[in-house]
Parts: sequence; structure tokens; C-alpha cells
Amino acid sequence: MNMYEIITKTKHGQKLSSDEICWLVSGYVEGSIPDYQVSAWLMAVNLNSLSDEETLCLTMAMKDSGDTVDLSSVKNVTVDKHSTGGVGDKTSLIIGPVAAACGVSVPKMSGKGLGHTGGTIDKLESIPGFRTGAGFDEFIGYVNNTGFSIVSQSGNLVPADKKLYALRDATATVDSIPLIASSIMSKKLAMGADCILLDVKTGSGAFMKSVEDSERLASLMVRTGKNAGKKCMAVITDMDIPLGRAVGNTLEVIEAAEVLKGNSKGRLYELCMELAADMLVMAGKGSKEECIEAAKEAVDSGRALDVFRRSVTQQGGDAGFIDDYSKLGKAVHECSVYSKTEGYICGMNSEEIGLVSLELGAGRKTKESPVDYSAGIILEKEYGDYVKAGDKLFTLYTSTECNIVQAGEKALDALSFSENKPEQRRCVIKVID
Ligand code: URA
Repeated sequence: MNMYEIITKTKHGQKLSSDEICWLVSGYVEGSIPDYQVSAWLMAVNLNSLSDEETLCLTMAMKDSGDTVDLSSVKNVTVDKHSTGGVGDKTSLIIGPVAAACGVSVPKMSGKGLGHTGGTIDKLESIPGFRTGAGFDEFIGYVNNTGFSIVSQSGNLVPADKKLYALRDATATVDSIPLIASSIMSKKLAMGADCILLDVKTGSGAFMKSVEDSERLASLMVRTGKNAGKKCMAVITDMDIPLGRAVGNTLEVIEAAEVLKGNSKGRLYELCMELAADMLVMAGKGSKEECIEAAKEAVDSGRALDVFRRSVTQQGGDAGFIDDYSKLGKAVHECSVYSKTEGYICGMNSEEIGLVSLELGAGRKTKESPVDYSAGIILEKEYGDYVKAGDKLFTLYTSTECNIVQAGEKALDALSFSENKPEQRRCVIKVID
């Protein structure tokens, strides 16, 4: 086998054998195949795509490139959940405890945020004392104790993805559907859960801007998961507008706690109940209607909040913040932004709002940038609200050296207004089962 032939085959749209794909992945991880040849192959994949069979082989070869997690000692059916990332997406902090309170185990490894999208690990690390690092045994202990744990991805889980992703990032080959699917699914399969729920975000703040591309990605990931022997489903959800009212780590943790307390029952709560119910249905806990009721009951009874409280404590965090938000770091600077216009809010560009939050310090411009946990934005009005000139639209928070007034102007540019009330937006656009 040689790389020249493999590149040529993909360049001409010919299928690679499973042996060729395994050889490529292991050779690249070991260092015997150079970056320049793998870059050329990635570009050929970007232009010509891969078949389902090739995508599955690539996914399995990547999964097998490093450690995998053995969940056989975990009590209950295990369900993992993945979001392709968005602005204000704190669903994992809510649906993990809800699903665990309904009798499934939710072992989850997450990443840090990069660019305008947030990362679950950063949100958790904004809780004083919270440890996101754990060995496999410790992680499994957490899951068996409370039914739910999120830790950061361990050192040698899917090393092929770390190398390939860095190369894709540098060679403009990130936006290939089979490459994204194999990158995400190799990590999910290495985690070893029985069931996988994929929340594929679509719209301005998402990786996939169009519903068609999101559907292609979601379908390919579901087929790959099922071909690998897992129960797997995907939900395509709206990320054209931010999810919930808070964007930024500490602010989002507070919003998640409010949903778990049953104090916030808007769009974020509704989406969380849907996603938690999908996890329960996959785990065999009943019909969708029964599982929605179970999820709501877990919130109303306080059992989901109790799981969250115990899981924060077991990972070293001060769960006292749930009753006293002042225990979380507070931003040094605060700025209110008022409307200059009158009308209905008919657009809230998520990507632009995510970029303002990044500018305030809530995210990372590069992998090495520090994060200001206290930074972010509260959306004081929602999509569809009627506003008059002078009404408060946003509160901006930061402890970082930045131009907060200019950030406020940019936030205003993210909004569009109309004379007539816009149509309601659906949170769940499509389910792929
Ligand atoms: N997220 C991943 O984990 N991988 C990709 O390729 C894109 C998004």
C-alpha cells in the first residue's frame, strides 16, 4: 500500500478498502505518513466525499487509534449525548441530570469552547472548585454514584482525531460531512455508551448553516452509529437564534440551575425536555409522551436538581452556588444596551452574538487563550418580543480589558426588527431516527 495510490483513488472517486483506510490512519498516528500526503487526501475527501462504508471504516479506525472507555461496570443503560455546538447551548448541564433522575446513566466527555461557540467544560470550570479531569475509574465511580458525570476528554482517547483535526483546521478541510461525522462518531464510539443522542445544530450560530447540510450530517452520523451496533438518533435543532437568555460560562450555569429548579419554562426548558425524553426512549423507558412526562416530573420534584447538586459536589465543586449565585465570580464591568428602534424582534443572529461574547472574553480566540468565566451577555428580550426605543435589550458583562461600549453596538447589529409579529420558531426542526 502507498499513499500516492490512496490519494489518487479518492481523487478519482474510487472507493478505498477497509485495509487501506486502517493503514492510512495508523500510519498517520505513528508518524510514518507525512502531513503533506494526508493533507492532499483530506482535500480529495473534501471535494469527492466518501461512501457510507468508507466513513464507517474511517470512524472505526480512528476510534481504535487510542484508548476506549469500558462502561461495562456502569449501572443502568448508558446514554451519551453530543451537540455540534452553538451559542447559549447549556443543554448538557440540564438533560444529563434529568435523564439520570429518570434511571439512565449519562457518562459524558466534553470539550472546551473555541471561537464563537461555548464548551461544556468551560461552563463547568466556572463553578469554584469543580474538577473536570478524572481517570477512567474515577469517572465511572462518579457515574455510578449519581448517574451523571461530565469530564474533559482524556489524554489518549482517539489520538487520530486530535492529529487529523489539527491538520484539517490548517488545510481548510474542516467542512467535509464525512470528516465531521467520523471525527464526532469516533469519539462517541470510543466512549462506549449503549445509546447516542446527537443534537445537530443548524443556522447562523452553528457549524452547519443550512438545514439540508445539517440533515446530511445527522443522517450520516446516525447510519454510522447504527452500523457500529449502537442505538443512535439525531435531532436537528434551531441555532439561528441563541438558546435561552444567557451566553457566557457563569451566566449559562446560572440559567441551567434556574431550569433545573423549575423557575424557567421557556424555549430552553422545552428543548431540554424533548432531548431528555429522546434519551429515555432510546434507553427503553417508555413512549415519547411518557418520557416527556417523566422528564418534567424529574424537574418538578427537584430530583434532577438533586442529581446536579450531588454531581457538582462529587467533582469538588461548591454546590452552594445553586442557592447563592454570588458564590460564582462576578464580572467587574457591566453595561446595559438599549434599543434605538421600535418593532418586533424578528432576528437575533447567533453567530454575531457569539462573537460579541467572545470579544467580552467568554470564549477562546485561539486554543491557548484564557477564558473570562464571568463574561457574557444576558438577552433581556426574546425573539418575537415587541420593543420600543429605550427598552433594554442586553446586559453585557466582562472582567477583561475590552471595549464594552463597542461590543454593545455590535450586539445591536445582531438584531433585526419588523413591523409585524414574526412567526414562532420551532426548536426541533427534524428528528432522524
Ligand atoms: N466537532 C468535532 O468534534 N469534529 C469536527 O470535525 C467538527 C466538529
